[in-house]
Amino acid sequence: MSQHPSQGVVPASPGRSTFDPSQGVVPASPGRSTALVTGGTAGIGAAFAAQLAREGSDLVLVARTESRLTDKATELSERYGIAVETIAADLSTAHGLGRVEARVADAGAPIHLLVNNAGFGLAEDFLDSDVAAEEEMLAVNVRAVLRLTHAALPAMIERGSGGIINVSSMAGSVPTATGATYAASKAWVTAFTESLSMLVAGKGVALTALCPGFTRTEFHDRVGVSRGGVPELLWLDADDVVAAGLRDHRRGAVISVPGVQYKASVIGSRLVPRSVLRWVSARVTAGI
Ligand SMILES: NC(=O)c1ccc[n+]([C@@H]2O[C@H](COP(=O)([O-])OP(=O)(O)OC[C@H]3O[C@@H](n4cnc5c(N)ncnc54)[C@H](OP(=O)(O)O)[C@@H]3O)[C@@H](O)[C@H]2O)c1
Repeated sequence: MSQHPSQGVVPASPGRSTFDPSQGVVPASPGRSTALVTGGTAGIGAAFAAQLAREGSDLVLVARTESRLTDKATELSERYGIAVETIAADLSTAHGLGRVEARVADAGAPIHLLVNNAGFGLAEDFLDSDVAAEEEMLAVNVRAVLRLTHAALPAMIERGSGGIINVSSMAGSVPTATGATYAASKAWVTAFTESLSMLVAGKGVALTALCPGFTRTEFHDRVGVSRGGVPELLWLDADDVVAAGLRDHRRGAVISVPGVQYKASVIGSRLVPRSVLRWVSARVTAGI
């Protein structure tokens, strides 16, 4: 793997890594695992990075903002003694995605767990939005998930081990007038993950769609929407979401829904007509 200017490495503590500064690569140490987390600098992705680092996993973190990547890599490496690679890349662009894809497929430095987490929504509804922004959202929420999963699976199947967690959303299973493309993108992530899990069954690779509800992260600030209209009961903590997602992934769950309130709403949503779901969804999102 060649070193790109916007790729960095914070090696593990001395004695724990085979990092060679002259090559700028982090080969996976025997017996150690490496997880690649997209969007690993904030919110749910940062919680994944921290929980995996605490367990001793080496990391590859992907996001656009180089300074935040460097800060996160330094923090986690110093605190947990792991090696952290960073790739500053915009997953909505062919170039950025291609670089991350190449890293995922690098046979010399295997990725044992891929967390497709980066994603975003839009402030405007479909009627008022810029169609280019809608397409950019699809590129990150859908195309990047598809391509990175496609890049990761062959080596995982050949090794007979590995895992992929695709961060979807409860929005993928309920109609949402305020985010039609976002909801559709997350419905795709859930359906894609569930179908692929059937294809790889028995090959030693676990796939999980993690479907959080409203979670306190930077997501809503970036979109510029108020959190005030959403009842407090519906808010989840990113650390709790990730703990539930990892636990479910490791016990082989294909769909993970963190939080009792959302587990109950999944059961309820199966019992009521879609017209009722649309009515409830319209009222919950009216204040956002
Ligand atoms: N928060 C919620 O209520 C909620 C609920 C359900 C599902 N989700 C899903 O959870 C995932 C994480 O969301 P979050 O709430 O943790 O969001 P967040 O706090 O806004 O963090 C987003 C992360 O993704 C990175 N990112 C954004 N666009 C990117 C791009 N084009 N290329 C590469 N990296 C990019 C950001 O870093 P840079 O800006 O530096 O690139 C950041 O690290 C998303 O897929 C979201 O749809 C969130």
